Amino acid sequence: MALSEKNKMDVPQHIAIIMDGNGRWAKQRGLPRTAGHKAGSETFRRIADYCRTIGVKYLTVYAFSTENWKRSEEEISGLMVLLERYLVEALQDMEKNGVRFRFFGDLSRLSPKLRRLCEEASSRSSAYSEVQVNFCLNYGGRDEIVRAAMDFARDVAAGKRSADSLTEADFENYLDSAGVPDPELVIRPSGEQRTSNFLNWQSAYSELVFMDVLWPDFKPEDLDRAIEEFYRRSRRFGGA
Ligand code: FPP
Repeated sequence: MALSEKNKMDVPQHIAIIMDGNGRWAKQRGLPRTAGHKAGSETFRRIADYCRTIGVKYLTVYAFSTENWKRSEEEISGLMVLLERYLVEALQDMEKNGVRFRFFGDLSRLSPKLRRLCEEASSRSSAYSEVQVNFCLNYGGRDEIVRAAMDFARDVAAGKRSADSLTEADFENYLDSAGVPDPELVIRPSGEQRTSNFLNWQSAYSELVFMDVLWPDFKPEDLDRAIEEFYRRSRRFGGA
């Protein structure tokens, strides 16, 4: 039975995806890398819709990492245009779709236009609660932890907090993901088997599912397979 026909209780509430393999997909077809990202952005749209259909509450995607600035100017600007285009559309359809948007990462390095779109999407959708999409943009898991540590240090210096009483739960409130439950499932397509600085803190207990399919070819059935794999594994959180 397709997951879409199953009870909504049967899916993880938070799925995170490293959308990898766009470049190889393009190369296989003799196309520029930006064509791979464009196909990848279409896959994102389909998978985000599918997640909503099957009842996934949070979807977090790695759209641009702190390391991605090393790519060519053409590739970077191609990616930024795709993101802008998506957010313009999302803002137009906001009331109809009711999706809440959040953005993880250091947005200060993005163009003023993209930053404004991110801010508008997150503020205008902040009241929606059924489905939430978290875009990781200029995001690195280590960078997120360092920025959180700096914010904490500033609060200590301002006398708002004591340096001796920090708990893991308190520290989470300084992360970009504050208030979002950890992903139960992290998926990386494209055959690479590492997490590449994605959600380092939040994925401490996540099931990691690596798949051979390239992201532009990723289908709802591949998401079903990843979820089925997730349920096959026993999840004990370090307990017996
Ligand atoms: C990794 O594949 C992918 C990225 C660096 C960018 C991911 C972005 C998108 C899928 C589009 C974003 C837009 C929207 C609207 C979500 P790669 O280029 O490293 O692939 P490769 O390893 O095969 O070279």
